[in-house]
Amino acid sequence: MLLSVESVTKTFGRNNAVENASFAVEKSAMIGIIGRSGAGKSTFLRMMNRLTDATSGAIKFDGRNILPLQGAQKRAWQSECAMIFQQFNLVPRMDVVSNVLHGTLNRRSTLATMFNLFPQSDIHRAIDILDRLGIAEQAPKRAEALSGGQQQRVAIARALMQDPKIILADEPIASLDPMNAQVVMDALRRIHEEDGRMVIANLHTLDTARRYCDRVIGMRDGRIVFDGTPEQLTTGVARDIYGADASFSEAATSTSIDALNEDARAMMEAKEVI
Ligand SMILES: Nc1ncnc2c1ncn2[C@@H]1O[C@H](COP(=O)(O)OP(=O)(O)O)[C@@H](O)[C@H]1O
Ligand SMILES: [Mg+2]
Repeated sequence: MLLSVESVTKTFGRNNAVENASFAVEKSAMIGIIGRSGAGKSTFLRMMNRLTDATSGAIKFDGRNILPLQGAQKRAWQSECAMIFQQFNLVPRMDVVSNVLHGTLNRRSTLATMFNLFPQSDIHRAIDILDRLGIAEQAPKRAEALSGGQQQRVAIARALMQDPKIILADEPIASLDPMNAQVVMDALRRIHEEDGRMVIANLHTLDTARRYCDRVIGMRDGRIVFDGTPEQLTTGVARDIYGADASFSEAATSTSIDALNEDARAMMEAKEVI
């Protein structure tokens, strides 16, 4: 097994944000985690990259439990799993290429960082990665001047600078319009396929998970209630994941989102059902 999540629990006060979660992934895959707001998706990703300590359980990558790692070993693990967020988390007034170069920060000296001194080879690599994502010509612009879809691609470029084995994406397209969402998901899919990197993405739309992921994990109230292929995501399963008000998840399972009109899409988003 490449990734093995074994009875992982995270307790906040009296609540289990994640409860006894287990699943295993044999080889590199693109994995979607779906579920309503509060289901425990972000907490799970934060435990994966050790931003949050699990209360109990084990997460093994390539056979090694990463939960007990401390100090330099913990930091090394964190640089192997890059994180992408809904709000991009770029430095808005800084130019694009510098934002990307900041993906190398954890292996540069404080002094070099202070003076924004980057080796020429890193600058070339940053431009190559931006080029691969179709935004090389944006390199000298301030990050804040770019569209949301472009900014998220800069965030992906920054993640790639650290040459991660895993990309953890927490609702990477939740702030984007459908066209930009597709560009960003296409980029993540391509990075998975071409580089063999594992991608684990929290997604709020069932349809996106079905279209892009090899494997879907459905969470509800901290528990994994579905673990399977996109084809296995039936209406009944959607009801388990999203709760009793499944009318919209039915619509989402029977019809491609492309076929739904804009009103239906807006309504579903407002209800956080898909
Ligand atoms: N730092 C925290 N302190 C207390 N409770 C938290 C904290 N982070 C998350 N929670 C709770 O854990 C549960 C899962 O949250 P989260 O992982 O953010 O869900 P999701 O990402 O699926 O929306 C929620 O009930 C949330 O309120
Ligand atoms: Mg979340």
